[in-house]
Amino acid sequence: MTATASSLLLDWYDAHARDLPWRATPAGARPDPYRVWLSEVMLQQTTVAAVKPYFAKFTDIWPDVQALAAAPEEDVMAAWAGLGYYSRARNLVKCAREVAALGDFPESETELRKLPGLGDYTAAAVAAIAFGQRAVVVDANVERVVARLFAIDDPLPGARKTIRARADTITPEKRAGDFAQAMMDLGSSICTARDAKCLLCPLSARCEGRATGDPLRLPVKAPKKAKPRRTGTAFWIERDDAVWLVKRPGKGMLGGMRALPDDDWSARGDGHGDAPVSGAWKGAGVVRHSFTHFDIELGVAIHAGDDARPDGDGEWWPLSAIEDAGLPTLFAKAARLVLADRM
Ligand code: ADE
Repeated sequence: MTATASSLLLDWYDAHARDLPWRATPAGARPDPYRVWLSEVMLQQTTVAAVKPYFAKFTDIWPDVQALAAAPEEDVMAAWAGLGYYSRARNLVKCAREVAALGDFPESETELRKLPGLGDYTAAAVAAIAFGQRAVVVDANVERVVARLFAIDDPLPGARKTIRARADTITPEKRAGDFAQAMMDLGSSICTARDAKCLLCPLSARCEGRATGDPLRLPVKAPKKAKPRRTGTAFWIERDDAVWLVKRPGKGMLGGMRALPDDDWSARGDGHGDAPVSGAWKGAGVVRHSFTHFDIELGVAIHAGDDARPDGDGEWWPLSAIEDAGLPTLFAKAARLVLADRM
């Protein structure tokens, strides 16, 4: 009898699984659904290396879903700062509150899918990894492995349906969570975007992509559109060793996050709003940041006076504690630009 792709992969996983903080030890034990859910939400659009310190911080401050449910949303947003895609953090709190009200996480993919912030990927990943349910889990790593394994050469994103259907054919009834994580590990260590270490791959003998002689060509991607570029200005107003920070409106870009006041570049597309106080301004330079749908060049203007009294809601934040303000990366870059001169 020839081994199936899933049994080859699971044998490989038993020997080579990465030791990650959200995985259960010893192998075979059921992982904690809270840790699985939290890690999967964090890992969407973000690398394992970037997630690890955030995962450690979150599980330290909020060791279970009840603790996270009881946390003020702004504390969670501040702890999330730097991970990006802030609607994930807002949904994280909403979801924790729903789960705490339910008593625990539901176990089926269908019920999980109804929770705030759980899309197809996360619902399948949590059902499979935390609850051992058979679910087809497809992230970017899995997409690449499957596209190569079956030599699927329709371009992404159109090929997603075919890739999912093929992934379904090799997903086992048992150990679907290990299987999913094995595919992810294979995709991140062996079958990577720039390299295919086929000699080390447990699936190489049956890989149609390898048989074509050029697995790196797969998956084929539709050409990317150039991202639009926006410009804007952030305002640095300082007095008594503190800087003026505002809370961004709840809806919209970086909603609810603490930030430097700015000229409304996010709402206008291009910033031409007024400065928050009158007076003379000095340019400190420009920071660049890339969001999903656009790139921004944000000029940073420093208020020349030392006794400004900005109107509206905001707070004087001590410069010595600027790292704890929970500034999203764009504004953290702006703060670094200003403060770099002082070091
Ligand atoms: N990426 C997303 N989820 C993951 C997991 N559980 N293990 C490794 N990489 C991942």
